[in-house]
Amino acid sequence: MTAKAKWVDIGALDSIPVRGARVVKTRAGCIAVFRTAENEAFAIDDRCPHKQGPLSQGIVHGRAVTCPLHNWVISLETGAATGADKGQTKTYALKIEGGRLLLDAAEVAAGKVAA
Ligand code: FES
Repeated sequence: MTAKAKWVDIGALDSIPVRGARVVKTRAGCIAVFRTAENEAFAIDDRCPHKQGPLSQGIVHGRAVTCPLHNWVISLETGAATGADKGQTKTYALKIEGGRLLLDAAEVAAGKVAA
């Protein structure tokens, strides 16, 4: 049904500050990996759906990030703009295993071709 996931280790969860982010550079673009106060992690494109602001430099609150440029709030779970704003940022499958962050490399490649 879906292509087999190829999980790639992109570092330790602890390498990201709580309520912070780290940018993972892929051949096709930058992905922002966020850590929430509850030690969850989410990966989305480091581009705001409004005017491509660097979401990795935004403020993390709950499971959302506020864009540093014009304060849109983007859901880390769905990549969608919240409230009255309309827009969508690509999300990527990410899992935590033994304190390591694993990103689905196949999904990264597929997503970027379509973007
Ligand atoms: S670029 Fe993110 S809110 Fe405008």
